[in-house]
Amino acid sequence: MIRLKDFSRIVFFTGAGLSAESGIPTYRGKGGIWAKYDYEEYACQRAFDRDPGKVWDFHDERRRRVSACEPNEGHRIIAATEGAVVVTQNIDGLHQRAGSKAVVELHGSLWRVRCAGCRTVAGNLETPIRSRRCACGAWLRPDIVWFEDALDPATVRAAGDAIAKCDLLVSVGTSGVVYPAADLPRLALARGAVTVEINPEETPLSGLYTHCMRGSASEMLRRMA
Ligand code: APR
Repeated sequence: MIRLKDFSRIVFFTGAGLSAESGIPTYRGKGGIWAKYDYEEYACQRAFDRDPGKVWDFHDERRRRVSACEPNEGHRIIAATEGAVVVTQNIDGLHQRAGSKAVVELHGSLWRVRCAGCRTVAGNLETPIRSRRCACGAWLRPDIVWFEDALDPATVRAAGDAIAKCDLLVSVGTSGVVYPAADLPRLALARGAVTVEINPEETPLSGLYTHCMRGSASEMLRRMA
C-alpha cells in the first residue's frame, strides 16, 4: 500500500472528481457540466466575444453554486500533507480553502477576473459579481483557461518543475482527456517517480500509472494518509 508518509516530494495532480464529493458537478460523465451546457456557447473566448452577458450569467451561477460548497476530506488530507504541491485543473478554489498553500491552478480560477482591455487581474469573491465591467470601461472576463485558450507559460513551468522533482505523483479525479494538462503525469513517470491514479473509473492514462486505486478520492486518500 502506498503511504504518503513514505515520500518527501509529493505532487497531487487533481481534477473535478476531487470536488465531486463537495457537491460540485464534474465536467464529463453522469450529470457532467458539458452534458448540459455547450462549452462553445458558455466557456470559450468566441462565446464571450459574441455574448459576454450570457457567458457571465453561466459563470456567475457556477460561482454561486461553488461558494455554497465546502472542501471535503480529500482536500483536507491533501492540505495536511507536509510540503506537497498541488497542480490542479480545478477552478473552484477548494484546495486553498482547505489550507493548501502551494497550489498551481493550470486552468485559472472562478475567483479571479481579468480585464479584456487593460489586462489587470484581480481576485473577486462576489456572487453575483457586482460589476462586469472594469473601471477602464472594458468587459471583465473570468480568469479561467477556456477551451482554445493557451495555458499561461509560467503556470505550466511551475507545474512541470514541481512534477519533475517529485518522488510521488498522485492523480486524483481527472479523466485525463484534456491536454496539455493530461501530459503532465508522464513527466513524473519519466523521472522514475511512483505514480498513483485515484479514480473510480479507468481512464485513457491508467496504463501510465504504477498504481491505480479504483475508488472515491476521500476514501482512497484516507487509505494513503
Ligand atoms: N473521486 C474520484 N474521482 C471521481 C469521483 C470521486 N468521487 N467522481 C468522479 N470522479 C472521476 C470521474 O471518473 C472522471 O474520470 O473524476 C473524473 C472527472 O473528469 P472530468 O469531468 O473530465 O474532469 P477533469 O478531468 O478535471 O476535466 C479536465 O476539462 O472541461 C475541462 O477545463 C476543464 O479542468 C477541466 C478539464
